Amino acid sequence: MVSRVIPVKPFDLVIFGGTGDLARRKILPGLFRRFIAGQMPSDARIIGAARSDIDAQGFRDMVRQAVSEFGGTLGDKALAEYDELDSFLAQLDYVTIDAMGEQGWSELRSKVRKELVNAFYFSVAPSLFGDIAERLKKHGLADEDSRIVVEKPFGRDLSSAQELNETLASFFKEKQIYRIDHYLGKETVQNLMALRFGNIMFEPLWNANYVDHIQITVAETVGVSGRGAYYDKSGAMRDMVQNHLMQLLCLIAMEPPSQFSSDSVRDEKLKVIRALQPVAPHEIVRGQYDATETTLSYREDAENPRTFTESFIMMKTHIANFRWAGVPFYLRTGKRMSNRASEIAVVFKALPHSIFDSNDHGRNVLSIQLQPDEGITMDMTIKEPGPGGMRLVNVPLDMSFADALGPDADDVPDAYERLIMDVIRGNQTLFMRGDEVEAAWAWTDPIIEDWKARNDVPKPYDSGSMGPLDSQALMQRDGRAWRELKK
Ligand code: BG6
Repeated sequence: MVSRVIPVKPFDLVIFGGTGDLARRKILPGLFRRFIAGQMPSDARIIGAARSDIDAQGFRDMVRQAVSEFGGTLGDKALAEYDELDSFLAQLDYVTIDAMGEQGWSELRSKVRKELVNAFYFSVAPSLFGDIAERLKKHGLADEDSRIVVEKPFGRDLSSAQELNETLASFFKEKQIYRIDHYLGKETVQNLMALRFGNIMFEPLWNANYVDHIQITVAETVGVSGRGAYYDKSGAMRDMVQNHLMQLLCLIAMEPPSQFSSDSVRDEKLKVIRALQPVAPHEIVRGQYDATETTLSYREDAENPRTFTESFIMMKTHIANFRWAGVPFYLRTGKRMSNRASEIAVVFKALPHSIFDSNDHGRNVLSIQLQPDEGITMDMTIKEPGPGGMRLVNVPLDMSFADALGPDADDVPDAYERLIMDVIRGNQTLFMRGDEVEAAWAWTDPIIEDWKARNDVPKPYDSGSMGPLDSQALMQRDGRAWRELKK
């Protein structure tokens, strides 16, 4: 099956922070992939805007380098080896700009073609959002149809997020603001919605009557070396739970929206966040990774020997509504864990009665793997083949559809590629609305404040493990266990 690529309208995309890490690692290689796919039209233009004093050619050279360093492969060859690279680079331009001053703004104004779709990507520190937004307006660069894209972290608590929202709102309408959470751009995350709302068989079972509990894990093997200073001010709660895990939880738990439109979907997600229960301290486990012979400990990576910031967190939470009353949602995420794997598992209840002698009934578990390999499996109980009576066995029914969808299934667009194309198309469904972000902080803040008030010390855990043993113990107390993650 060949996937259909619908080109977007011609656009001018300005990337503030165009020479920065995110632009080089994700945004620019991603745009090149969309160019190869035929989705980025040949009259679209990408304008890098940053402090670096380089010209357009210098920017193109930097992007060529970024594509070869971070572009990975497409099909069976390196992205940088595609012949289209020169034509793509020809569509790039650059302006040296001072986000807080006047330099570069008139030049940028002369380059942006107002008759096209205009998008401005703020790939810069949030402290610059207000300055850039103000200058976009002042210099006549932005109008009613322009879009701005902002990255996380969107604030570090409720009041800073409110302040950011207010600043942006004084220059742009909500329908122009695209707050990125790149987890929403992941293929399987969207497949989750297709699975839930495109099939009749899951929805009747998707509630407290049939679901025992839900597990959400985002495990990473990397530590925080190189970004310890940033990370130490956030910790796993702010860096991952408040945004990425929260979004996964919303998509699992939300009511079916009446239509697949941005506000219907976001209204339902917001209701989930607002129904989240406060989490008691004994239902949270925080951890910090230890050193190994070859890697440093969290405290060393953070260059802060007395830090109480967590590199691992596990928690149990509940959603107080008709659908989910009494169903625990277990969340965990951490750095330097045994393997890189992200999974959502919907664990169904045990059978009410068994007609077989065998006790081998497993639970039905729907597991949605986000990475490294995207896929969906359903653990089912079947008869073990062959003679010997009715022996039962649990097998995963593979629903990843790679065979049905053919080789294209391997080359799915990266989250950033998809999200940037959605910005150009003007589709906000996979972006966070201001009230959603604020509601997420309103739930997170008291938990973090409580740690501070009690000087809560994270538990050490072995690098290469699945976090502190207390995280298994918390599950065991409930008569449950974390699932083994796929290696
Ligand atoms: C980022 C976090 O938002 O997401 C990082 O700041 C984390 O700490 C990353 O490593 C994980 O993203 P992914 O797509 O690699 O799972």
